[in-house]
Amino acid sequence: MTTQTLIATVQALLAADRGLLAMDESNPTCNKRFAELGIPQTVEMRQAYRELIVTAPGLSGSISGAILYDETIRQTKKDGTPFARALREAGIVPGIKLDAGAKELAGHPGEKVTEGLDGLRERLKEYGAMGARFAKWRAVITIGGNIPSEACIEANAHALARYAALCQEAGIVPVVEPEVLMDGDHTLARCAEVTEQTQFAVFRELQRQGVLLEGMLLKPNMVVSGLDCPEQATVAQVAEATVRCLLRTVPAAVPGVAFLSGGQSPQSASAHLSAMNAGFKARMPWVLTFSFARAIQQPAMEVWRGQPANVAAAQKALVQRARCNNAARRGEYSAAMEKP
Ligand code: G3H
Repeated sequence: MTTQTLIATVQALLAADRGLLAMDESNPTCNKRFAELGIPQTVEMRQAYRELIVTAPGLSGSISGAILYDETIRQTKKDGTPFARALREAGIVPGIKLDAGAKELAGHPGEKVTEGLDGLRERLKEYGAMGARFAKWRAVITIGGNIPSEACIEANAHALARYAALCQEAGIVPVVEPEVLMDGDHTLARCAEVTEQTQFAVFRELQRQGVLLEGMLLKPNMVVSGLDCPEQATVAQVAEATVRCLLRTVPAAVPGVAFLSGGQSPQSASAHLSAMNAGFKARMPWVLTFSFARAIQQPAMEVWRGQPANVAAAQKALVQRARCNNAARRGEYSAAMEKP
């Protein structure tokens, strides 16, 4: 029964060329984004911004699922409708961020391990009752001089697998997110090496913990050059390196791979996803889709700037970016689509 539920949720999330919207920024991260645009960092503004997203007309044409944060899943629209219900009624599956953030890994300067396993079984029960049907846990891997260490990769892979097993026990689809960060001056080849090592460790742990591969999604980084690398890879190089890495590490039983954007511009994230789907579909056993936060939300937040008068224009910007990624899932995105 649980297996059928998990598979049905995964299929709903992957249907009709749609993808996921990550709107699960923690309060400090959301406040940081607001501060950059001069938006007051209050609970009321966070509610108003999330209501803008949840009520955007036509969003469900391109978005199948939305990942909420603890504060957000407890919030309602101004008319009292819980956000999770509003999403469901709009045809979007509600999800929840479950991790408690990445903390310093003891004995490993510059590296982090994600916390949040304590009490997770109980929290899953609570979020399930609030309507969450899938969940997310983000692990962070940093590339530097002598890092990542094997200890960091293994600790994060183990936590991801324990989280995923607990989710599936509760009938909630785990979205497993090992993010190799773009920060640094490393090359595309170094990102490929670390991403491959990380995903290999993650799948080894998922299998050890008995996670049903058909009932999960992988949310990885794309293989890109470090932000400060003097030689930036082309779209074709990113697409080829990313697909090669996935083919080497992700079992065919996994139904879908939903990328994070990781600090790429919205246009680059769409172009990269589109190039993978246009060039390699025949070789890939899984669906390649998106689970972007910044690459979908950023233009909308810049239009909104906390002003009620800008809500409709911001919603249009949001839906427009979601549509670009919908096209990228089909391998049909082009820069010309950026104009509404
Ligand atoms: O955990 C990170 C988010 O789910 C994805 O965010 O697309 O801005 O990297 P991003």
